[in-house]
Amino acid sequence: MTERLTVAIIGAGLMGHGIAWLMAAAGHQVRVHDRSGEALSSLQGRLESIETLFGAGPDVRARVRGTDSMGDAVSDADMVIEAAAENLALKQTIFEDLEALVSQDCILASNTSSIPIRRICERVKKKARVVGTHFWNPPHLVPLVEVIQMAEENLPAVHKMIGVLAQAGRKPVHARKDVPGFIGNRLQHALKREAIAMVANGVCDAETIDDVVKYGFGSRMAVLGPLEQSDLVGLDLTRAIHETVMPDLDCTPAPHPYLLDLCESGKLGMKAGEGFRKWSPEEAENVRASLRNFLAVQAKANR
Ligand SMILES: NC(=O)c1ccc[n+]([C@@H]2O[C@H](COP(=O)([O-])OP(=O)(O)OC[C@H]3O[C@@H](n4cnc5c(N)ncnc54)[C@H](O)[C@@H]3O)[C@@H](O)[C@H]2O)c1
Repeated sequence: MTERLTVAIIGAGLMGHGIAWLMAAAGHQVRVHDRSGEALSSLQGRLESIETLFGAGPDVRARVRGTDSMGDAVSDADMVIEAAAENLALKQTIFEDLEALVSQDCILASNTSSIPIRRICERVKKKARVVGTHFWNPPHLVPLVEVIQMAEENLPAVHKMIGVLAQAGRKPVHARKDVPGFIGNRLQHALKREAIAMVANGVCDAETIDDVVKYGFGSRMAVLGPLEQSDLVGLDLTRAIHETVMPDLDCTPAPHPYLLDLCESGKLGMKAGEGFRKWSPEEAENVRASLRNFLAVQAKANR
């Protein structure tokens, strides 16, 4: 039987409201704290959009309560998931404040995309209670959550978190080392490093990179992971390809100068009308809509 918990979410933004929905849909009582009045006042409306997407009833939303007081949100919480902005100093302060407000056994988790958890909880005294929970955007549609372990003493909290997430219908995985970027973002950004280097070197344009992934190996990746694929074709083939390709791959140990130039010239992507590629508002909306629809179909199929 599912254990009914009280879960507090810090940050009612893009990730926080989706995580709140997931936890409420699993039957837990959810408190959401944000320091922005606008984020809190729009919370129920954004939850209602998820409700409509899933054709759910209002009972899920009714289990979520927003509050402008962190103490009110966390005082009776069994676990807290922090989803505030990606800023180390901010997260360190939130975790220090949290420890003074929560119960002895409360688990503290951060949804950071890439910052090592040990840095975030530097000022927390009882570190055994701290884990990483890296959800993917949008968290109510993408099943993966990386649960990050800092040290041996965190294992009970990691196991507890994995159990709660599995009961909530997620696909939790265990990252046994607290490395920057954890697992998924290291993989994703290793691919981006080579993609950017190829565009910078004139091998192809950005659209071609995206087509090669979407219409090539990306089209099978939802059912065939990269190491499964190596096992499928044989490690001898993987080894032969690595002997030719590995010495030639980019290994710039920092953001590539090509990316830095784009950022410096204000080409920040769809929000600016241009990034690696040019985007009209309609084209940008089409990409967002097809992503939403694709993920919603998959999420409904997996329910
Ligand atoms: N957006 C993504 O694709 C994505 C994916 C995975 C993980 N993450 C991570 O999740 C976290 C949140 O990202 P997001 O995209 O939801 O950001 P967001 O900007 O949409 O939301 C952050 C919210 O935190 C609130 N906040 C900031 N400081 C606060 C404080 N001291 N106390 C309470 N609330 C505070 C803000 O008012 C805002 O509503 C970040 O660490 C981010 O790296 C984001």
